[in-house]
Amino acid sequence: MKPKIGIVGAGNVGATIAHLCLMKGLGDIYMLDLNSDMAQGKALDMSQSKYLFSSDITIEGGGDYEKITDCDYIIITAGLARKPGMTRDDLLNKNFEIIKEVALKIKTSKKNPFVIVVSNPLDVMAYSVFKLTGFDKKKVIGMAGILDSYRFMHYLQQKISVSGDNINTMILGSHGDTMVPLLSKTLINGKPASSLFPEAELTTLANKARNGGAEIVALLKTGSAYYAPAASTVKMLDAIIYDRKITLPCSVFPDGAYGLTDLFIGLPVTLGNAGVEEITDFKLTPEEQTALEASAKAIKEQLAVIKDKF
Ligand code: NAI
Ligand code: 2OP
Repeated sequence: MKPKIGIVGAGNVGATIAHLCLMKGLGDIYMLDLNSDMAQGKALDMSQSKYLFSSDITIEGGGDYEKITDCDYIIITAGLARKPGMTRDDLLNKNFEIIKEVALKIKTSKKNPFVIVVSNPLDVMAYSVFKLTGFDKKKVIGMAGILDSYRFMHYLQQKISVSGDNINTMILGSHGDTMVPLLSKTLINGKPASSLFPEAELTTLANKARNGGAEIVALLKTGSAYYAPAASTVKMLDAIIYDRKITLPCSVFPDGAYGLTDLFIGLPVTLGNAGVEEITDFKLTPEEQTALEASAKAIKEQLAVIKDKF
């Protein structure tokens, strides 16, 4: 039996995820949106594309939560996207109300589903879904660290002629201004990036990754990035469905790992068919650990804003 994938929010990110899942044949898909006709229309359009890549996947769209609660995997992309001049944090109150509504609906799921949260501000929304549904901490996972890390890889590759396959890097912490690029773990052709770039240049490139989302918002003018965010989400889904056991940066409940608790934050995790199978204990430098703790503090400040709304 094919897995069933439910996508809540059929906007730019949700629809792009759906099309990637269809092309990769990951499972049958139901896309739900407040605008149910739009979800149905996009699903119909995608369905008519499947023959072009020999996909046997079925895809439907609409506004029926019964179909979402029957899914093995639920991806939440519902919410407002950033507009120029808006920070991710500006989205907090509005998106919390949306996420609360979605979380309380999927709480009645019949399948003990895995949930991947994409809506922003990411770490706060992932925590909110975890708290409001009561689902297992291994099965609620936020997407952001993969996107931020690949953005860093993009800026590194613009400076040095090497295949992306030969660049290793990871960004932990919040999906926000306090994200933590692990410069000590950034390797190019197996060599520390710090031996190839002056420290100031490496920091500038890491900052470009930090601002990568805002750079795209400023150019698109009517919304935020969706191709790389969707591909990053599908990377996580694929790792779980195919039990790949790969280590990726994802927003998770640390439960004491890295000295952190009571939040969701980007950490290196092994994804397999149990979901978050392990939080990997990277040896961070003292500076990186301090930056991670500062990032946790920033997430907790956002959580404090909505603490009475749960
Ligand atoms: P979009 O505006 O294209 O789509 C959002 C969709 O959510 C709309 O179709 C809207 O009708 C729907 N929606 C709103 N309230 C709903 C509700 N209560 N129930 C069901 N559907 C509802 O936005 P886009 O670009 O798809 O972004 C979606 C979210 O993902 C935003 O919050 C954005 O900031 C976030 N995002 C997060 C990233 C990350 O790295 N974690 C990367 C990119 C986007
Ligand atoms: C991004 O980083 C909007 O969070 C989204 O592109």
